[in-house]
Amino acid sequence: MDMMKMTRREMMLGAAAVGVAAGVPAMGQSIDAPDKAAAKKVALPDVGAATRAERMAWWHAAKFGMFIHYGTYSTIMRKEWDLEQEAPPYAEYMAKAKTFKPRKESPREWARLAKKAGMKYMVLTTKHHEGFCNWDTKLTDYNAVKQGPGFDLVREYVEAVRAEGLKVGFYYSLMDWHHPDGAKCATDEAARRRFVEYTHGLIRELMTNYGKIDVLWYDVAWPLDAAGWESVKMNEMVYGLQPGIIINNRNKLPGDFSTPEQKIEAAERGRAWESCMTLNGSWGYCQADDEWKTPRTVVRNLITCVKDDGNYLLNIGPKPDGSIPAETTEILTAVGEWIGRNGEVIQANDVCKVTRSNYASFSRKGNTLYMHVHIWPGDYVAIGGMQTKVKSAKLLRTGKPVAFTQDDWQVKLTGLPAFGAAPDTPITTIVLECESEPVQDNLNVRQNKPRPATA
Ligand code: GLC
Repeated sequence: MDMMKMTRREMMLGAAAVGVAAGVPAMGQSIDAPDKAAAKKVALPDVGAATRAERMAWWHAAKFGMFIHYGTYSTIMRKEWDLEQEAPPYAEYMAKAKTFKPRKESPREWARLAKKAGMKYMVLTTKHHEGFCNWDTKLTDYNAVKQGPGFDLVREYVEAVRAEGLKVGFYYSLMDWHHPDGAKCATDEAARRRFVEYTHGLIRELMTNYGKIDVLWYDVAWPLDAAGWESVKMNEMVYGLQPGIIINNRNKLPGDFSTPEQKIEAAERGRAWESCMTLNGSWGYCQADDEWKTPRTVVRNLITCVKDDGNYLLNIGPKPDGSIPAETTEILTAVGEWIGRNGEVIQANDVCKVTRSNYASFSRKGNTLYMHVHIWPGDYVAIGGMQTKVKSAKLLRTGKPVAFTQDDWQVKLTGLPAFGAAPDTPITTIVLECESEPVQDNLNVRQNKPRPATA
């Protein structure tokens, strides 16, 4: 089929139609057959492009969200990949679903903490790789109502998030270690059809039964490609049911935003991106994991995402009963307090040409330069190679003016508290109003700053 001649209806039929055009094997043939290469060449329609800017506006302003990994794996306390990494017997693992006993009030605690931390949206694992559905699905008994919890955890979550005025996100793992066709679908067309019907059916429930949903966050598309998942059709269905929703890029389509994981990697300007990260080293609760990030690292990461126009989705892994580990509460509370004092930083997302310092990072909004001092050197701080005239400087926390001098080689902010007495914690932000867009040129210092007359 000539893609150019595809009708709108064929487009709407999604990957089923695209699959034919792409030479995806007919029923009974392997999805992973050589035809896969041909499938890759087909430009899939950019579903949702027309309304993207409008749908994404709140998310761009939000910047900071909470990821929550919570499911039957939480009861095992060995991270969410345990079923594969340690390969316990299936029956033993599945029996855990009966002992999974979340406290009903837990989602309210998560949402309150997210709000307190300065986060504006939340994304909960409705189904992770182990296949357990945290909601009242009609498509499998391996779900929260029929197993240990005895109630619809997703509903409690949705209500809790809304009660705090935050936006509601659903994470959904396409990969499924529980469904009998979850792996077989790669090599058996009948299995693929059953599994895709199941998958689309679960997503349809999530998009139908809980009112307005703001984010759909797919994960791990193994073992199928976009044609195999019928991802175009999947997204068409989601946008059809939830016209305002935004969708990530992990069902093998670009979607509305990219999702660098455990690293901060900006996309080109114009393409939305969100860096997701753990607060220690684990997504799902891991009792032994004590490698917590400090509030300073979290704030730094948030600033780094924001300055390159991205979002930061920071994870919490609640304990088996849904309660929040004490370290998590402590760290996020400190982060929220900092944001409360330094809120305007969260919107400083213009490209910043001042980048170098031994103890600070920088971000910019218009002609305003934000200097974020991570480790407080004491007495004065200076920016070498500053090319732009600074008009005024102040501490963001208090608004107190900061004295400064400026010459061709540096701007030096003086009269500041001594070492050990940083004006703010974990980071002190100084605001410099500049005459024009601030620019730094350290090479100019190296090449042209007059040197001593003798060696
Ligand atoms: C990875 C992990 C998964 C986690 C996800 C979050 O895909 O496999 O467990 O949910 O990252 O982005």
